[in-house]
This record gives sequence, C-alpha cells and structure tokens, in this order.
Amino acid sequence: MRPTVRLGAILFSSALALCAAPAFAQTSAMPERVIVNLTDTPATSLAFNWRAAPGSGDGFVEYAPLTPGPAYAQQATRVAAQRTPAAFKTRDDQDVAAEYYSVRITGLTSASQYIYRVGKDGAWSPWRQVRTAAAEAKPFTFLYMGDVQNDIRAMGGHAVRRALKETPDAAFMLFTGDLINRADNDAEWGEWFGMDVDRIAETPSLMTPGNHEYTKPQGAVAQALARQWRLQFTLPDNAPIEALKETVYRADYQGLRLISLDADMMDESPDSARAQVQWLERQLAENPGRWTAVFLHYPLYSTAKGRDQGELRVALQPLFDKYGVDLVLAGHDHTYGRGRPHPKGPVYMVSNVGPKQYPLGDLSWTTRKGSGIQLYQQVEVSPTRLTVRAYTMDGVLYDAFRLDKNGKGPAALTDLAPKTPELILRKDDKK
Ligand SMILES: [Fe+2]
Repeated sequence: MRPTVRLGAILFSSALALCAAPAFAQTSAMPERVIVNLTDTPATSLAFNWRAAPGSGDGFVEYAPLTPGPAYAQQATRVAAQRTPAAFKTRDDQDVAAEYYSVRITGLTSASQYIYRVGKDGAWSPWRQVRTAAAEAKPFTFLYMGDVQNDIRAMGGHAVRRALKETPDAAFMLFTGDLINRADNDAEWGEWFGMDVDRIAETPSLMTPGNHEYTKPQGAVAQALARQWRLQFTLPDNAPIEALKETVYRADYQGLRLISLDADMMDESPDSARAQVQWLERQLAENPGRWTAVFLHYPLYSTAKGRDQGELRVALQPLFDKYGVDLVLAGHDHTYGRGRPHPKGPVYMVSNVGPKQYPLGDLSWTTRKGSGIQLYQQVEVSPTRLTVRAYTMDGVLYDAFRLDKNGKGPAALTDLAPKTPELILRKDDKK
C-alpha cells in the first residue's frame, strides 16, 4: 500500500528548509510552541502543551473563567504541568534539547469562555482565550485541512492563516497528517508552530499522523513516530493499545464523534491494523451522537495518479458502511477529491492545504475534483445537518455538499458544488 508514484509530481521547491538556519535547541525559559488540543471530553477539559529551555524547571498553567475586564488574573487557578526533559539527535543531525510540558485541565464548565497562560513566574506566555464545547448536540463549525508538509513557513502558512481568517469561530482545527515533511525535523516543527502562534494557542487542534511523521531510526527494524509528537501534543487518551497512544483516539464534540485512525501503522503492522479495526467497531457501535467523522492520512479512495489503498478499503469500508459513518477525511494525495462511491456509505474526501501538488489519477468515484490548488474545508455541524464547504486559498468556494439526517442511518446527500470549471493541473504545466 506504500505510495509508489513520484513521477510527474509537480513539486514546488522544498529547498528553503535546507537554506534556513534555525535554532533547534530551545535556549529561553519563555514558553514556545504553545498549543491547545481537544481532549476526549471537550465540554469539560482541554489540554495544553509547550516547551522551554533545558533546565527551566517546573511549569504551570494558570486559567480562569473569562471576565469582562482584567479581574481573571487575580482569580486564576494554577495547575502544575507534567515536565519531560528531552535531548536527542534527529535523523537530520539536529540536536534537540528542551523541557516539554503537558497539562490536561479537567472540571471545566461546558460552553464557557476561559483564559489561560503557561510558563512560570518570570516567564509567562501571554494570556490567551479558549472555550469549552457544549455538553449537548449544538451547531458548530470546524476546519479540516490536509497536508501542510512542505515549505511550511514560506508557502503553507498563509493558506492556513487564510483558513483561520475566513473561519473566525472555528471550534477546532483538524489536520489529516503530514503536518511536516521529515518526521523529527525540529526546524520543520518550528515552522509548523510558527504558522500562526496565537491561533494555534487559541483554537484547539486534532491531528492524525501521516507517513511523514514516521521515520525508521538508523538500524531499526520498525518505524517510529516522530519523537516530538507525544511530547508536544496531548491528544485524547483512549487508544486501543499503548503503541497507538495519541495517534488513534476518539473525541465527541457537540453531537459529532471524531475518530482518528493511524493509517501508516495500519499499513506497517498487521497487529496494529487488527487492534485499530476492533477498536473502531466499538467506537462506531457505541457512538452516542448522530454524526461520525473518521479522519486518517491515507485515503480509502485515492485521487493521485497511480495510487490505490485497496487493503485499507477492505479493512475499513465494511465497518464504515455498517455503522453509517458520514464523513471520511484524508490527505496524502496532494490533490482534491470528494465523492460518495456507495449511495449509503460515507462521503469520502481528500484535500491538500500545502503547496506540494500531484497529478490526478482515477477520479471516477468523485463528484468534484481538482489539482494544482490549496484548499481548506469548513465543516458546519448541526443536530440534523452537516454542510461541508471547500475553499481555495484565495477564499473562493470550490466545492460544497450537505448531509441531512433525522435519525440514525445513512444521511441524504445534496450536492452544492459551484458550477465553476474544475481546476486541473496538466502534466506539462510548469510551476
Ligand atoms: Fe503522506
């Protein structure tokens, strides 16, 4: 199932990362790479991560209900972070040295505004606003984005910032893997966090790993997840097995069950694939909400030329169909495609927010497709309707559809795609 096609891939230069001269070791006690993640109970808890220079000592989160003025600063609760000192060499020979901090705040009030800061006395982050989910099914919008991966600072960041600017009320951001290009490359992770330092710290994220978050350490038999993944994120902690911690998980957000599958580990390890499939069936069978979105890096239905994930389809599609999964969100193919190959099955999507572009392959399953474009998707969820709108990075609507459902079972699909021509990158287009 490994991707085999690189030919004709029209790549924008990724030379920039090689030319940059970033610092890999954190040298300041000031918190950096601050991020908020959704937990498995987003109505009552949130997770925070950051890092600081080696030897920075204990770190804390201070948080309070948001007040009309600055009173929150006197009312804050302080919680000690779990601190993990890390010092390692990356595959690119970068020396990473930092204290990584993680806190999961629980006992929050649903549908409420909070304010928080991280760090310690003399080295606090700015106060930043966040909010909790409602406890019940209620309308909200989240952002779905595919691979950022290449030239993140130079060419990926502005597309993500446009997505955030056009979606000021995004409840959270969901990334379908290949956030960066070289698994543990710390400069690239720095670029990723640098895309929008404030919004990444204010808008919760969920991310599933792609093949580029995995690397095979020298001399190792098995691949390993980038060291930074579990150090810098605190994702829902309900994986089927320890090896899939924070890569396979579930979160329920206002009537929508979100399920992250680790596509690369399904591909690499039969044991992992079995564990994920068994676990998945339980999550689907026990879904308390009406809607289900599964997100994973590899698409079950490919869009890039020469690619096909047949094994993944065999393993997952019967469960998706049996339990009425509504949306399957993927990345990896550096193209756009949306379709419902089976009338009662999920709508499958492949999208790409980064600059790397591939030619399209067999797109007979799609209703709308595109290549040579960067896109972001607004997914608007309400108790009975789910509407997806895909925009190109210039803010123009490229695709849209909606699903309606009044009970359990397959949703009714309405195509809302604009009548504009599909944008297709020709093989001989020079970029
Ligand atoms: Fe990928």
